Amino acid sequence: MRILAIGDIVAEDGREFVYNNLNRIRDFYRIDFCIANGENSANTNGITAEIADALITRGVDVITMGNHTFANREAEHVLEDNPNIIRPLNFPPETEGVGYVVKDTGIARIGVINLIGRVDMSPADCPFHAVERALKGMDADIILVDMHAEATSERLAMGYFLDGKVSGVFGTHTHVQTADERILKGGTGYISDLGMTGVEDSVLGVKKEIIIDFYYHAGKRYRFEKAEGEVWFNGCIFDIDPKTGKTTAIERVRFSSSNLPY
Ligand SMILES: [Fe+2]
Ligand SMILES: [Fe+2]
Repeated sequence: MRILAIGDIVAEDGREFVYNNLNRIRDFYRIDFCIANGENSANTNGITAEIADALITRGVDVITMGNHTFANREAEHVLEDNPNIIRPLNFPPETEGVGYVVKDTGIARIGVINLIGRVDMSPADCPFHAVERALKGMDADIILVDMHAEATSERLAMGYFLDGKVSGVFGTHTHVQTADERILKGGTGYISDLGMTGVEDSVLGVKKEIIIDFYYHAGKRYRFEKAEGEVWFNGCIFDIDPKTGKTTAIERVRFSSSNLPY
């Protein structure tokens, strides 16, 4: 099975690109199942019911989130109403929503787990212990893990920790795609960061002039505004054998709206 994981979809330009292109992307790359990180899909971060519905209608099977999960107040209801949108499993147990989902496609039961890191992030429970406990109760042929974290060391450690126990581990949050995609010794596909799907000529999706000023003036705060322009699409495809649950091939994907591969 070919599973596409899409890096953080950022703001209107990013989500419009996904709405208008995901069908063609799925056909071109022969994708069977699609996971996308939606924590920045609303213009001010977070997600809304309307955006979640639109992403799922246009071909996203599971939406993962991150530190911006509750940036919009309505996210509490979005998470409670739709089990296909998951938030980090290692948020406190009272948090709305769930940290993983298992979907039966008819060919395989695909589990998706969302975790959040603790290095240079807000406080959370331990992602290592949380995923260890969750795996004991999961019945799935294929399991993919979105490790939403700042530090590559924490993501790599999670990749090795889960090697042979899950089909794939990918990182999100830093919005910059890493070139370290590979299959670990136990058969787990791994990439430290998928990158983002949003305006390319920006700093992580925010107008670059604002972020340059922020650093030039040593942290002076400006209102972040979304950038405008050409979108780039960033993600990774995991080819997984449903019988063994192992990744047999991994392919990093990145292209711009002006240079479509299809
Ligand atoms: Fe994030
Ligand atoms: Fe993000």
